Amino acid sequence: MQQKIIILDFGSQTTQLIGRRVRELDTFCEIVPYNKFPKDDPSIIGVILSGSPYSVYDPEAFKVDLEQFRGKLPILGICYGAQYISHTLGGKVEPAGTREYGRANLNFIEDGNPLFKGFDKDSQVWMSHGDTITAIPQGFRCIASTEKVKFAAYQANDEKIWGVQFHPEVFHSLQGTLLLKNFVVDICGGKQDWSPASFIETTVQELKQQVGNDKVVLGLSGGVDSSVAAVLLNKAIGKNLTCIFVNNGLLRKNEFQDVLRDYECLGLNVIGVDASKKFYDELAGVEEPEKKRKIIGKGFVDVFNAEAQKIKDAKWLGQGTIYPDRIESLNITGRTIKSHHNVGGLPKDMKLQLCEPLKWLFKDEVRRVGRQLGMPEHLIKRHPFPGPGLGVRILGDITPEKVRILQDADDIFIRGLREWKTENGETLYDQVWQAGVILLPIKSVGVMGDERTYEQAVALRAVTSADAMTADWAHLPYEFLAKVSNDIIRNVKGVNRVAYDISSKPPATIEWE
Ligand code: XMP
Repeated sequence: MQQKIIILDFGSQTTQLIGRRVRELDTFCEIVPYNKFPKDDPSIIGVILSGSPYSVYDPEAFKVDLEQFRGKLPILGICYGAQYISHTLGGKVEPAGTREYGRANLNFIEDGNPLFKGFDKDSQVWMSHGDTITAIPQGFRCIASTEKVKFAAYQANDEKIWGVQFHPEVFHSLQGTLLLKNFVVDICGGKQDWSPASFIETTVQELKQQVGNDKVVLGLSGGVDSSVAAVLLNKAIGKNLTCIFVNNGLLRKNEFQDVLRDYECLGLNVIGVDASKKFYDELAGVEEPEKKRKIIGKGFVDVFNAEAQKIKDAKWLGQGTIYPDRIESLNITGRTIKSHHNVGGLPKDMKLQLCEPLKWLFKDEVRRVGRQLGMPEHLIKRHPFPGPGLGVRILGDITPEKVRILQDADDIFIRGLREWKTENGETLYDQVWQAGVILLPIKSVGVMGDERTYEQAVALRAVTSADAMTADWAHLPYEFLAKVSNDIIRNVKGVNRVAYDISSKPPATIEWE
């Protein structure tokens, strides 16, 4: 049986990060809403209570009955989680006066506490809380303080309960992963036995059972998630999987042919549908960004449906949905703020059941699985690319000629990123989260040889990011930008000016539309 840690989500922005850190320890974990602790699940080996935007005194504060797992499983409370345990079991929590925010250094009150095994003296942690624990329950003891926070960490004397007011899951808690490892491995007895190979083995077995001899259709996008899902399904059910890859005319230069070839090399049963003309026709003259998105989205569903209907007896729709797409985070009103469905326009009349083999994985795990499956590195490391493709990177209306200009400019930029080696041996492509060119709806004057030109301007966009929620513009070397600008202006007919977008998200977004 696969062991798991349960992370109770009290609505903190960093709950997902706790999950990722635990998974990095090769231990399976599930993030569940604070009030959905799974009953009678013998595979659970420990419980982590997350932070929360609430104070324990707020009337709407999220409450959990600790008795569901107290005394049965080791418990770690983080920030609000620590305050909630302390408050509920007889300690005292009060407003901190000023919010305790930023770096702090731990001062250990006792030697050898298992939670801090291997920690450096004065280890740096990250604090972010408005309330603070001013008294811990009877039978608890303080195990670490910081200059400003007396009860930075505590432990129950006779129970496996720990609480920390800092955030071990964030990067600035320099030994935070070690703390989580101490909890998950030493205290809870985690075997760290999750590996891409074991995941593939069990998932292939499960898929065989789930799908049997039924037929599955799956829409490929060229991105990592749908590609890995397809390869996994292919391993489980072979020719009963039919993949559909639609060219909406808004893909990168040569992408349709290149990716189709990659898929064929991977042994996938894939149908490539070139529907460019349909999309160009429907988009002609449309300038409004949301309208363009809707047309492209609906066009995809139409083409996909038409192809899928041809596959007789298809019973399942395979999808590359991953765990972050499904985790429900709680906002301060307790309502779901993100409930993403990869399903898009799942055709209702097709009555297909969903098959999502990657639904428990984080992105980095999907990549590890892809590598283990022997997929080529350029597919695995591929940057994210928006569903509406170049359609949201051509500002204003879309024409085949504009697509051609943008594809050429984008190709020079992306190839440049892939070829430019940095000091540490990585390419610039590997160092940025996402990059692309935007075709601007303006013309400007230039001079080429003896001739005056009046042509279009493009903007280069490259960002660094961890999850696309926030992003910074990538500080690309000037020499690189100079080369790309030169190459584009010389080689792309119709462009005589190149700008570099230096806006961060927020307040800008990654895409321009
Ligand atoms: P923004 O522009 O909101 O983008 O900062 C965040 C991430 O989402 C991608 N993106 C999209 N992906 N359909 C998609 O499938 C869309 O309509 C869409 N809009 C933005 C964007 O490329 C970035 O990775």
